[in-house]
Amino acid sequence: MDLTERARQILRQNDKGGYTLPTHGLYPYQWNWDSAFAAWGFATFDMPRAWDEFDTLLASQWDDGMVPHIIFHQPDPSYFPGPDVWATGQSPATSGISQPPVAATMARLVWEMDKDASHDRLAAIYPKLLAWHRWWHDVRCTHGPAAIIHPWESGRDNCPDWDIGMAGVDGSNVGEYTRRDTGHVDPSMRPQKEQYDKYITMVQFGVSVGWDQARIVAEGPFLMADPGITFILLRAHEDLIILGQALGEDTAEIAKWAATLRASLSDIWNPAIGAYDAKNLRDGQFANVLGSGALLAYVADAGNPTLDDQLMRVWDAVTYGVPSADPHHDTFDTRRYWRGPSWPFLNALIAVGFREMGRHDLDARLRRETAAAIAKNGFAEYFDPHDATACGGMDFTWTAAIWLTWAGPEHDQTRGAA
Ligand code: SER
Repeated sequence: MDLTERARQILRQNDKGGYTLPTHGLYPYQWNWDSAFAAWGFATFDMPRAWDEFDTLLASQWDDGMVPHIIFHQPDPSYFPGPDVWATGQSPATSGISQPPVAATMARLVWEMDKDASHDRLAAIYPKLLAWHRWWHDVRCTHGPAAIIHPWESGRDNCPDWDIGMAGVDGSNVGEYTRRDTGHVDPSMRPQKEQYDKYITMVQFGVSVGWDQARIVAEGPFLMADPGITFILLRAHEDLIILGQALGEDTAEIAKWAATLRASLSDIWNPAIGAYDAKNLRDGQFANVLGSGALLAYVADAGNPTLDDQLMRVWDAVTYGVPSADPHHDTFDTRRYWRGPSWPFLNALIAVGFREMGRHDLDARLRRETAAAIAKNGFAEYFDPHDATACGGMDFTWTAAIWLTWAGPEHDQTRGAA
């Protein structure tokens, strides 16, 4: 079957009616940033369905503005930790943390594909996006750059960025539990048990304080500045301004958030590695590793020649896209989730930045390498960056979505004209 046809089929197969699973089995619910990419993919062949995806995601917004990272629409025993473990008291049940706020950026991309037809759908979600961005500013940017209270909030769960923060989390009293992810996927491609014990311990802390977000920031076991979310949020603020202006809204408040966040970027620049870096906000220490979060600087127009050198150093060391961790670092693990593999959707997001900066050579290279991995081994969640071995879940929504919007060859001309 033609790969574009197959990509559409995957989106349809993962469509639960208004929301899309990342993949069957491994991730049987609605995930926040996966959904935003799903919308982008749907927009290439079913615009109303694209907007539906934003609607279902934002319908589960908390009263304080947070949009949670998982929405447990229907109980499913094939995933752990489920709604009973999170115990957030929301209806429908949700997790108690958020995820990278890429929705406004994806909404802008979808809106630009058909502005007239999108106007009313955009107007309906704009206040919710605004409230979510306010939440990020008020609740997670209290130290300047965007902070996370759990590695899962970053979306890049077990990347080396978080190792120093995770070292301070005691997972020894977590109690008995059964992981489900390693029943779906080769365990060597997933986070390790020691990390899972800590992930669950952090969820238990959230439950113990009734998911009081201010208390979790102040007293929780983990608090780190995330370059990845910082750049995604900065970019998303700027996209939300464009969307707000198109709707005739006053966007001055968002412009202030964006300016404040941009001014904080120097706090996460680590001269020792010549790159942006994650920082433990409990003690001010940098992670001292180059991660994919730093390379998201390009989507927020925050690149510089020093970062370019670091990008090329890690990218030239592999064959199939930008690796999620530094291949020269001793933490590099070529197939283990966020500790090395190449992630197609993240490549697509970095490439959005390349294209807008006029760096079409980098965009073309990244697209070519990402497309080659997909053509070789299918719509996998992530790939070994050396040989394109398919890793994680298969028939993956966001991999299909970025084929339809960016990686597939039929979009070359559209992109050239943009
Ligand atoms: N990515 C996490 C998991 O693997 C949750 O967001 O379950």
